[in-house]
Amino acid sequence: MFLEKKKKIILRKVLKKEPLVCLTSYTAPIAKIADKFSDIILVGDSVGPVLYGLETTKDVSLDVMVQHATAVVKKTKKALIIVDMPFGTYEKNKTLAYKNAHKIISETGADGVKLEGGEKISCIVKHLTQKGILVVGHIGMLPQSSDGKYKVYGKSKAQKNQIMKDLNLLQESGVFLIVLECTVEKLAKKIIDKSKVPIIGIGASKDCHGQILVVEDLLGLTDFESKFLKRYTNLKKIISNSLSKFTNEVKKKKYPSNKHLYK
Ligand code: KIV
Repeated sequence: MFLEKKKKIILRKVLKKEPLVCLTSYTAPIAKIADKFSDIILVGDSVGPVLYGLETTKDVSLDVMVQHATAVVKKTKKALIIVDMPFGTYEKNKTLAYKNAHKIISETGADGVKLEGGEKISCIVKHLTQKGILVVGHIGMLPQSSDGKYKVYGKSKAQKNQIMKDLNLLQESGVFLIVLECTVEKLAKKIIDKSKVPIIGIGASKDCHGQILVVEDLLGLTDFESKFLKRYTNLKKIISNSLSKFTNEVKKKKYPSNKHLYK
């Protein structure tokens, strides 16, 4: 589906106050399923901790993001596909940020990129949007600026003031929507009230225009713990049971049975 059509569908849902469903995907099989349900799919840099066992998202490279985004785009038809720009690929220099954002979009066919931060990167965001790149903002708790530990954002007066400034600057810079992560609920509601663009929450408020979770977290495949996380199943247990059955059958020579062999 063309980008303009995807954007229109999303904005129409927001106008009708229909919550947006957003999910992460890093791989072809998950993307194919997630596309049935999601308005937006994020190829998040959480791929680092989730799939590669990294401590934080900071060591994820641009090439890794491009590789995963390519697989996701290949298996999706309708969701808006957004790709995280990894740490170190956009913050310092708008020319480099454009070069890397352009690489992500042109090599993968994704619809846009997500950058973490507000005031500090608003000039970069403006540069990208002026050059026609769809940008999603990310404020509140910022994983790329943390040590892997999730601290709730917005408890101090300084943080409350900063986030309102971040919101305004990102809006003025032309973001399409904003992810708001792990933020005190009262402050999140103020942000939603003041915002002119849709706010996608992760540990923010049920009043957000949409919600996002990391698929492997909600499926119970990771060890990630957070108050905002709801596990909808326990995939770890399901996988473990299946592997245990396979192990027993191999040991007892029950697998392969005749029907699995070429006669
Ligand atoms: O990297 C990621 O998956 C994210 C979401 C948690 C919003 O940024």
